[in-house]
Amino acid sequence: MGTVTASDEGDDDGEVADTAEHSPAASGKDHAAEKPSHPWFARLYDPVMRASEEKLFPPHREYLARDLSGDVLDLGAGTGAMLPYYEDAIRSGEATVTLLEPDPHMREQAVAAARERDLDVTVSDARAESLPFPEDSFDVVVASMVFCTIPDPDAALDEAARVLRPGGEFRYLEHVAEAGWRRFAQRALAPLWRRLAGGCHLTRQTGELFTERKSFAVVDSERLHLGVFPVRPFVRGTLERRAATAELRADPSVRERVREAVAAARDRLDR
Ligand SMILES: C[S@@+](CC[C@H](N)C(=O)[O-])C[C@H]1O[C@@H](n2cnc3c(N)ncnc32)[C@H](O)[C@@H]1O
Repeated sequence: MGTVTASDEGDDDGEVADTAEHSPAASGKDHAAEKPSHPWFARLYDPVMRASEEKLFPPHREYLARDLSGDVLDLGAGTGAMLPYYEDAIRSGEATVTLLEPDPHMREQAVAAARERDLDVTVSDARAESLPFPEDSFDVVVASMVFCTIPDPDAALDEAARVLRPGGEFRYLEHVAEAGWRRFAQRALAPLWRRLAGGCHLTRQTGELFTERKSFAVVDSERLHLGVFPVRPFVRGTLERRAATAELRADPSVRERVREAVAAARDRLDR
C-alpha cells in the first residue's frame, strides 16, 4: 500500500514528517511571503492542460524523469503531473520522491493522484525559495513549468543548488519570453495572465537565469518551439551541481582575486 507522507498538518492521514529542524531560517533565508492559494486555477488546471499533456509534453516529461535514481525533489509539483513518469523508479526502489507544493488546492490533487496510483511519496507544503531540507539532501531536483510562477526565482535556484549534492542534477522544462513582436504581445497580456493563471509570468528569461548560475555546470540546454502562444517557447535542460571548489574556480571574480594575490606575492618576493 503506497504511503503519502505529508510535511503539512493539513493532510490528515499521512505521517507527518518533522521539518522543524530545517526551517527556512536554517537555510539563512527568510521569505515571509504568503503561500499561494488559487482554488479556481487548481480546479481548471488538469482539464485545461489535458490536450497538451497528451500531445505535447510526454517526451519532455520523460526527459525530466530519465534514468531516475536517488532522492528526487519536484519543485511546485502542482497536481502531480510528473507522477506517472516517476512511477517505475518509485516502485523499483530506485528513487524516493518528494513533491513540493505550497498551494493547498494543488497539493490536495497531487496527494490524491499519488494515493490513486498507490505510490510512496513525501509531500511538502514549503515554498521553493525556502526549502525545509538540509544541504546535500537530493540527487535530482525537477522543475517543470514552475519558475514562471515562483515569486523569487533567484532565491529558488539558490535553494535548489543548496539542497543538491555535488554532481546532482537540476532538470528543467520552463516556458520563457518570446523574441521580437511576440514579446510585446506577451508583455501586454502579462498582468491579466498573472491573475488568471495562478501568478504565472509570461516574459521571464528563465533559460539565462539557469545557465549563467556559477553553482551549476550546463550539461545540456535547448530552446524548444513548443507550446501555444502566449505560453511559448520553452527551454529544457540539465545542470550539474558543481562541488564547492569547482564553483569557486568557475567564478571569474574569484579567479581574478587569486591572480592578483599571486602577482602581489611574486612582487614581494622580487623585492
Ligand atoms: C503551472 S503549475 C506547474 C505544476 C507542475 N510542475 C506541472 O508540471 O504541471 C506551477 C506550480 O507552482 C506552484 N508554486 C507557486 N509558487 C511557488 C513557490 N514559491 N514554490 C514552489 N511552488 C510554487 C503553484 O502552486 C503551481 O502548482
